[in-house]
Amino acid sequence: MRRATTGAELAEALVGAGPGNPRGRAVVMTMGALHDGHLALVRAARERVGEEGQALATIFVNPLQFGPSEDLAAYPRTLADDLRQLEAAGCDVAFTPTAQVMYPDGEPQVRVDPGPLADTLEGAVRPGHFAGVLTVVLKLLHLTRPDVALFGEKDYQQLTLIRRMVVDLDLAVRIDGVATVREPDGLALSSRNRYLDPEQRRIAVVLSRALDAGAAAGANGPAAVVAAARAEFDNEAVTPDYVEVRSVDLLVPPARGPARLLLAARIGTTRLIDNAVVHLSHSAAPTTMR
Ligand code: PAJ
Repeated sequence: MRRATTGAELAEALVGAGPGNPRGRAVVMTMGALHDGHLALVRAARERVGEEGQALATIFVNPLQFGPSEDLAAYPRTLADDLRQLEAAGCDVAFTPTAQVMYPDGEPQVRVDPGPLADTLEGAVRPGHFAGVLTVVLKLLHLTRPDVALFGEKDYQQLTLIRRMVVDLDLAVRIDGVATVREPDGLALSSRNRYLDPEQRRIAVVLSRALDAGAAAGANGPAAVVAAARAEFDNEAVTPDYVEVRSVDLLVPPARGPARLLLAARIGTTRLIDNAVVHLSHSAAPTTMR
């Protein structure tokens, strides 16, 4: 595995770049502190492009997506371990730029405007977060010039906004979503799980239990899905930040068929998020009696 820390080193490491390139290139973007969820993306990237293609991963803790009350300095940094894991998962090139490389003039004046979807769900409690995410994702797409970029369904709103950016700004890249990797008891892997003490770790399973309960109520419509999910939180005396059913593109109210259940809760001081598909066989609209 090659490692690049500057734009010039990265450009040199990109093989077969340019028009007519028969080899595919896939990129996985991360903030490090890697776990099996990240590594599933890297393995999927390796599979997408085959042995002939190039699988890239980026590690960059992006200051632009952290709010003033979020502790950027405390974000876990485990670079040596991350690089070993990337290599074992089949990564060809690791791009690990510094903030100086990514933002040489300090915070960029021009940023991606993520639109109204970024003001809801996660965006409602993290103002400016998705503008910071889309800005760094766009920069990393330009630097790595991939055919395909892979993102986890774990951060479903992020994945949806990245898909929206690619469509709305005509970016020539394919975006692939990868299913959430979970612990055996259902807890979604997250770099934040390390902050949970044993009792909080036990309680944290409530998020995936709420998703299961919500999905099981899909036949009774979106309100029943939300009620069933909320009941699981009540059982653990946890107050969720939100429990919402939305269309798969998160834009319109859910209709019959596949929809997405999204939730967030604080367990102690650790904020966790999760989501899953739900199949609605009832619509939200009231039915007419005959
Ligand atoms: P980070 O939180 O490090 O996540 C990197 C990628 O791993 C994201 O696509 C995320 O959805 C995915 N991921 C995290 N946990 C996962 C799990 N349990 N199963 C499957 N995939 C999982 O998301 C970011 O970094 C940043 O916002 C980034 C896109 C890199 C921009 O800075």
